[in-house]
Amino acid sequence: MTAPAQIPASVDAVLALLEQNDYFADRRLATSVFLALKMGRPLFLEGEAGVGKTEIAKVLARGLGRSLVRLQCYEGLDTASAVYEWNYPRQMIEIRLAEAQGRVDREALASNIFTERFLIRRPIMQALEPRDGAAPVLLIDELDRTDEPFEAYLLEVLAEYQVTIPELGAIKATQPPIVVITSNRTREIHDAIKRRCFYHWVDYPDALRELDILKRKAPEAAEKLSREVVAFVQRLRKMDLFKLPGVAETIDWSKALVALDKMTLDPQTVNDTLGTLLKYQDDITRVRGSEAERLLAEVRAELAAA
Ligand SMILES: Nc1ncnc2c1ncn2[C@@H]1O[C@H](COP(=O)(O)OP(=O)(O)OP(=O)(O)O)[C@@H](O)[C@H]1O
Ligand SMILES: [Mg+2]
Repeated sequence: MTAPAQIPASVDAVLALLEQNDYFADRRLATSVFLALKMGRPLFLEGEAGVGKTEIAKVLARGLGRSLVRLQCYEGLDTASAVYEWNYPRQMIEIRLAEAQGRVDREALASNIFTERFLIRRPIMQALEPRDGAAPVLLIDELDRTDEPFEAYLLEVLAEYQVTIPELGAIKATQPPIVVITSNRTREIHDAIKRRCFYHWVDYPDALRELDILKRKAPEAAEKLSREVVAFVQRLRKMDLFKLPGVAETIDWSKALVALDKMTLDPQTVNDTLGTLLKYQDDITRVRGSEAERLLAEVRAELAAA
């Protein structure tokens, strides 16, 4: 990790910082990032799978020289896994040792074992503590997978950047972390959370931006192949499929084609490699064969005209 950098001074500076770290954002996303950083508010990113929501947090941490604290959400996530937990085995040992030494002053023992020494810090607490002098980036990933009680709990954290531990009192961040929350929108997140954040819907990139991404993330692909891949994927995204390919799939497909030594797309190769782009058998069946051929012909016509 490099030394902590200053918060970018403008939207252009955000765009440059992201790009230096291999992330290509549109101006609207860069503006949301800039405002979230400048105003010290969490950034709430929603969007389809594989459009670069999680990556933003990683890139910000890297670009700003901060450590990344990641909280992966899931159903049933509780404060013991997300915030803190008492280290019961160590507390038990401490009690046994005290007993063995004949020290059985209960009050003293209780105030001794409920101290920070016996606290296991989970991601949210870790994010309240600066590391190497700078507040971390806290990524709360896929918040839509948790239950509502956890969301309610998050409200206190996001409003005050503080956690209350009954035995210790309130623990407040000296420097608020940079918070990025993502959701795949499998359910709506409560308005109260959204209101505290800058909200941004992360869309699929346009062809130019997707080509920039490919050049950086799959540079071994021939220029012609990359253009074909992007044009093909952009067309697929206009179809009524169960699950459209994200940027992650475009990158995967390029790499797969390079691994097959392809310099250009042909119908057979498209059919044989659709599984890197589409993850549902119904979608694959719909595209394979004549539809793939039609899309490919359109792609060739488009690129020949360009
Ligand atoms: N704008 C972008 N610039 C550079 N790389 C990108 C961009 N968008 C996506 N990627 C790449 O696509 C891949 C998927 O991104 P990421 O994991 O952030 O998606 P996601 O939106 O979090 O998806 P999911 O909802 O499935 O978690 C990563 O390898 C990332 O590097
Ligand atoms: Mg993600």
